[in-house]
This record gives sequence, C-alpha cells and structure tokens, in this order.
Amino acid sequence: MPKRVYIYTVGCQMNQLDSQLVADLLDQHGYQVVGSVRQADVILFNTCSVRQHAEEKIYSLLGRLKHLKRQYPEKIIGVLGCMAQKDGEAIFRRAAHVDLVVGPGRLARLPELLAQAAAGTRPLLAISPWSERSDRQTLLAGFEPFDPPRRPQHLQPPFQAYVRIMSGCNKVCSYCVVPRVRGPERCRPPEEIHEEVSRLADAGCLEVTLLGQTVNSYQYRSGGRTIRLADLLSLLHQIEGIRRIRFVTNHPRHMSDDLLQAVRDLPKVCPCFHVPAQSGSNTVLRRMQRGYTVEFYREMLARIRQTVPEASITSDFIVGFCGETEEDFQQTVQLVEEARFKNAYIFKYSPRPGTKAAELYPDDVPLDVKRRRNHQLLQLQNRISLEENQKFIGRQVEVLVEGPSKFGQKAPQTQSSVQLTGRTPCERIVVFPGDRGLVGQFHWIRITGATPTTLLGQLEQHPIEVASCRLERGNWLPVISQ
Ligand code: 5AD
Ligand code: SF4
Repeated sequence: MPKRVYIYTVGCQMNQLDSQLVADLLDQHGYQVVGSVRQADVILFNTCSVRQHAEEKIYSLLGRLKHLKRQYPEKIIGVLGCMAQKDGEAIFRRAAHVDLVVGPGRLARLPELLAQAAAGTRPLLAISPWSERSDRQTLLAGFEPFDPPRRPQHLQPPFQAYVRIMSGCNKVCSYCVVPRVRGPERCRPPEEIHEEVSRLADAGCLEVTLLGQTVNSYQYRSGGRTIRLADLLSLLHQIEGIRRIRFVTNHPRHMSDDLLQAVRDLPKVCPCFHVPAQSGSNTVLRRMQRGYTVEFYREMLARIRQTVPEASITSDFIVGFCGETEEDFQQTVQLVEEARFKNAYIFKYSPRPGTKAAELYPDDVPLDVKRRRNHQLLQLQNRISLEENQKFIGRQVEVLVEGPSKFGQKAPQTQSSVQLTGRTPCERIVVFPGDRGLVGQFHWIRITGATPTTLLGQLEQHPIEVASCRLERGNWLPVISQ
C-alpha cells in the first residue's frame, strides 16, 4: 500500500507552488496525497515566516498533533519551508514530536529524507547553512534549486499554473526575513522555463503566473546576451495554447520601460502590476531600506499608466513600522488616496528575528495604534476598490471560469446552475450564475454589480475566440488571437 501524505500550506504563492511540487514529487515516489491528518502516514507543514502570526499558527497546529503522535508514533511529522529554515533545530525543542525540519533550499532531498525517517533516523534537520558573513556564492550554493520535473497532467486545476522563474531575493529590506530564509536571487534559464510552460500548455494549461520575489528583476545571461523579464514574456507569448500570462511580485525599482512596453504589446500578458510601496513616507522608506523615494514610486505609477492605460495596480503596505509617526502615516494615506490601487494588502509591522530592523530599531508603535492605522487604510482602500469596481458596471469582461464560488454557496442553487467565480485579465474576481461545465473556459460576462472585492454579472451568450481584451475609450474590446 502506498504511504499517504498530508500537506498543509500557509504563506505566499511561492509556498503554494512549493507544496504542489512536493506533492507531485512524492507522488512520483509512491506516496498518495490525502486530505486529512488522520488518514496520513506523513504529515507535512509548509510554513511561512513573514509575520509572527503565521508562525504561531503552525506552532499551535503542531501542538494539537502531540496527542496523535503519542497514539501513532510511526507517523512522520515534518516542518518544511521558511519557518524550517529560520528556526531550524529550535523547532525540535518547541515541538519534540516533530521528526523532520526541511528548509526551502533542501526540498529536493525530501524523498530521501522521508525514506531515512521511515527507516528510523529521526529527528532529521536539513536546512541551508547561513551566516551573516558568508559571501553570496557560498550562500547560493547552500540554497539548492527546487524545480523538479512536474507532471503537467496532474495539475489541479488543469488550466492554471504557477511557474517559478527565480528564487530567493537580493534586496535588503530591513523588515524582511525572505532573503534570510530563501537565500540569494537565482534566475532559472529561459529555455527551462519555456520548456516547462510548453509542457503545461500541451496538457491544457491556459494561464501561467510567473513567480519571483522581485520578478521584474529577472535576468539571465547567456551567450553574451541578457534575457530580462520583457524578453521572457515575448518568448512565452509564442507558446500555443497559453492564453494568459501573469507575473508577481514586482519591485518599484525594476519597473523598466521595456517591461511596460512588453505588457502593452503582448495581448496574452495581463495588464496587472502588483508592486508594493510599503509606505508613503520617505523617512520610513529609508529606514525600511527600500531603495526608492515616494516621488520615485509616484513617477513609476505614472509611467505604468501612461504606457498601459488599462493597467490594474495593486500594492502592499506595512503600518506601524519602527518609528512611524502620525505624520508618516498620513503620507501613506495620501499615497493610497492618490494611487487608486485596484486593491492593497495592509499589514501590521511584525518584527522578525534576524532582520536588520529587529536588531536596530525598537518596535515602538503600540499595537492599538497599528490596529487603528491598519483599519483606517483598509477603509480608505475599500472605498477606492469599490469605486474602481463600479466603473465596470454595464461593461463586458472576459473571464476565465475557475469554479463554484464560495460566496455563492449560500445563494439558492439549482442542480446545473450554480454561482461560479472567475477572473478578468486585470485580475478582478467575477461571480455569476452558470453551469459547472463552464469551469476552465473563457466567457464574456456582463457586469451588473460590484463590491470592493468582487464584480457580479451575467453570462453573455457569445463564446470567446479571443486572447485578451483591452480598454479603449472606456470599453473593453476583444483582442483577437492570431
Ligand atoms: N511585518 C509585516 N509585514 C511584512 N511584510 C514583509 N515583512 C513584514 C513584516 N516583518 C509584508 C510586506 C510584503 C508582504 C508579502 O508582507 O508588505 O510585501
Ligand atoms: Fe513566502 Fe516570504 Fe512567507 Fe516564505 S516568508 S512563505 S517567501 S511570504
């Protein structure tokens, strides 16, 4: 009987992708992926360290498994990912029933590590060596790539995929644990990415999202030429079957004109830019070591909108960063007010051990002030998101139907017609009644209503023969694929 593995995932899209790759890799090694802890012989947590809350959640879930482990000591419990790299051996001290701790730079070894654990060698620690004093090359060698050959026919859902184009991060943002847990930046060769996307397309994948911590800094030198993200997009655009290409997360300093022009000129590339600002105050941005000013960020927004007028732009903000005054915060409010983001993710600053900010600056903004600023910014962004979404009422949008909507489950549903959800090229979520058989297809939806997070609509009857749509003189027009 195959060994059964349960994988629980928290964190960003990169982590979601790692879990998918782990599941596929283990499946190829004779494991069966199951949906509950009780059924599983191996229980894996793929973890995040970006805020303390994410870590506490995992420690609490681990705590709840203590009893199960006492009952079934042969079950293997593993902690993977960012928290594994950050806390290392300390995890065994905090949760003695954990058998395996594997960092993001050691995931490729997982089948072998699980075999050792099953043979009785426990606990096992597999993390990348890390020291403040190590040079980039040494660190890079310690963070092994994890891009195992995946079987595209096993993709769930079959029509959408994340594709890693780079791992790690070379930035030095003072609040951020990512470079410490995922190591220095490493870009994948364009041929390898092209090959992966082609295989996904052959298996029926329609939409790929290219992933990197600072995806727009992608560059690969080969044969005297440097391939940047704009070149990679052109290359992937040629792949037949792929209808949409997205990329996240962008850094403001790498939003080059050639990238903007590529998004403008390549119809399959969705006109969306997730480009975190983090703060609207230059004093705070300097302390965060973001490497730009708010004036630079504003100028970048203007350049995006000039080149790609239909662009939807989203952002991240941290409120209550060390030393953030009321005046600093008001400058963030001002930026959010002006920028008219499609939406923005707002986080309360959480000091991360091992980061420069945690070492250098006291976490001096009280929790109630962080909460108030978070709430105020969210309220403002919600108002803007709603106003921006309302502009779609009466328009037709192209939607890739993703599945039944959680939102719709409470609504009365007939057998065949349910509330479905899908996404526009500009990444707006659209909910509409329709047949389950539409999942995985492109359809035109006429928008009839809007909330800050969702567009509501009705299915138009004509099918779609288009690759994308563009905003022209206030209307979304289809761009016919060649
Ligand atoms: N505290 C709070 N938020 C953080 N982020 C990154 N590090 C921290 C931290 N220490 C936020 C940033 C980033 C997003 C993924 O998480 O806004 O863009
Ligand atoms: Fe993703 Fe960063 Fe969390 Fe790691 S720490 S899972 S890279 S968000």
